[in-house]
Amino acid sequence: MTKKIKNIIVLTLVLAIIAIIFTGCSKETGSVKDEGIKTSLDKIKDSGKIVLGTSPDYPPYEFHKEINGKDNIVGFDIAIAEEIAKDLGVKLEIKSMEFGGLLADLKTSKVDFVLAGMTPDAERAKEVDFSNIYYNAEHGLVINKKDIDKYKEIADLKGKNIGVQKGAIQEDIAKEQIESPQIKALGKVSNLMLELSTGKIDAVVVEQPVAQAYVKNNDALHATDIVFKDEDGGSAVAVRKENEELLEAINKTIERLMKENKIEEFVINANEMMDNE
Ligand code: ARG
Repeated sequence: MTKKIKNIIVLTLVLAIIAIIFTGCSKETGSVKDEGIKTSLDKIKDSGKIVLGTSPDYPPYEFHKEINGKDNIVGFDIAIAEEIAKDLGVKLEIKSMEFGGLLADLKTSKVDFVLAGMTPDAERAKEVDFSNIYYNAEHGLVINKKDIDKYKEIADLKGKNIGVQKGAIQEDIAKEQIESPQIKALGKVSNLMLELSTGKIDAVVVEQPVAQAYVKNNDALHATDIVFKDEDGGSAVAVRKENEELLEAINKTIERLMKENKIEEFVINANEMMDNE
């Protein structure tokens, strides 16, 4: 090899190394490094949309409503989700499913967040992260109007057929607070109410605002004054674990909505939407 060729090879190598070092440095602050640490919040912002998982059988939290001949999912959870999307500068996309499947779909990234009147209990908190509580409600009981005199307190429910939503905490609540209940767990609250009005079950345990909502639309049903205890109470937004940025953003929106008394307003709006069915 002539000296000239050797020099050319060395020079090329040196230039190549310099080039590598340079691009490496610029990437440090540029796109490639960002690619590596892209948070789910970055991904949401890049895609221009955030996908909500919800179970629209729970008025006034979330429910179906026909507007101008088109089916819509509305409710105060949806109004909150819209605000979260707005604060992030992205569009809200809604995926609806049965309540019992929500956390699995969240964990497998089919949805980015969940609002479904979900109680942040310790068991779920092992699998997903929860925002601060944005709404509080107690657990109540729906029965048939004709049974008003029969079911006055929890003790009267002993051995009765009790309807609960599959995967919801009401299943545990009913098992723990009612004596030897016959539990019937169904995927949808709307189907529980159907079973109740056709006499297949004796009572349904749901959050009180939901009890009121179903009773409003069905003259044969009655929401009792019975209240079940629940230490974990309240609703929170769920996100996948290690989504700190997204969770922080969601908490900021919740904090703003609470400060502006917006959540109360959304609840009133949702109840009004049910009225003009
Ligand atoms: N708060 C209860 C729970 O977290 C029930 C929520 C049911 N929500 C619904 N959209 N169906 O288990």
